[in-house]
Amino acid sequence: MITLLNLDCLQALSEMRPVRMIFADPPDNIGLGYKQHGDNMSQVCYEAFINNVLHRALPKCDVFWMSYNAIHTFWVGGLVDSFVKAGWEAKPCVQVFRFGQHNHHDLGNNHRPLVRIMRTGTKLYPDAVRVPSWRQLNGDKRADPRGRVPGDVMDFPRVVGNSRQRRSWHPTQLNEELYERCIRLCCEPGDTVCDLFAGTGTLARVAPRCEVNALLIEVDPFYCEKIAEEHGLEYKPD
Ligand SMILES: C[S@@+](CC[C@H](N)C(=O)[O-])C[C@H]1O[C@@H](n2cnc3c(N)ncnc32)[C@H](O)[C@@H]1O
Repeated sequence: MITLLNLDCLQALSEMRPVRMIFADPPDNIGLGYKQHGDNMSQVCYEAFINNVLHRALPKCDVFWMSYNAIHTFWVGGLVDSFVKAGWEAKPCVQVFRFGQHNHHDLGNNHRPLVRIMRTGTKLYPDAVRVPSWRQLNGDKRADPRGRVPGDVMDFPRVVGNSRQRRSWHPTQLNEELYERCIRLCCEPGDTVCDLFAGTGTLARVAPRCEVNALLIEVDPFYCEKIAEEHGLEYKPD
């Protein structure tokens, strides 16, 4: 089942029942041209917003994932550390993309951090995300026929202009396979996954193939309309 709510995520979090997993890909606060969201908070307000999201989201799930821009690496690390000290388990991961923005004057940005925070002891399903191993690909007889459980580096390209996945009506979206890996690793069929910043509705495209229920939260009515149109959904405008 796919549910779409045209709501501010903080409001949605205060009203929703707990779910198995929450995914968050908040705006990067770099002035991107969203239809409604300004994406230009002061640094203090942006950090307070993300802090608020984490404090409200963690009690509502077993597993929380957040994808964020590398420019926020250091202070997000401090924030996550405060949850680790409070007893949560955190896993730093990274999405890498070979086709990153080119910078002639310095090293360009070719990665996007991704952090997983979960209750200690939460069951994971690593067999669901196995990939062909180097040994398998190179005909080594010692290869485990099941392949290998991938590491914390997620090699999924950015969704650029000519990508098959691209929805041109939105300025930014994440790769569907990235969502898929996070979901399959942490969920069983029938679980519910919530995306606090639905954007183009990537979760709605991925959830059926992972056999999970999806709860999409998006503050912008235009994006909600586009998601609803693509998936034949009804939703209650805010
Ligand atoms: C980075 S995009 C998410 C893209 C999404 N991961 C995808 O793959 O399509 C962030 C989205 O969050 C929405 N947004 C901004 N502030 C929000 C808030 N307070 N509550 C819910 N959605 C919000 C924006 O309108 C934007 O569509």
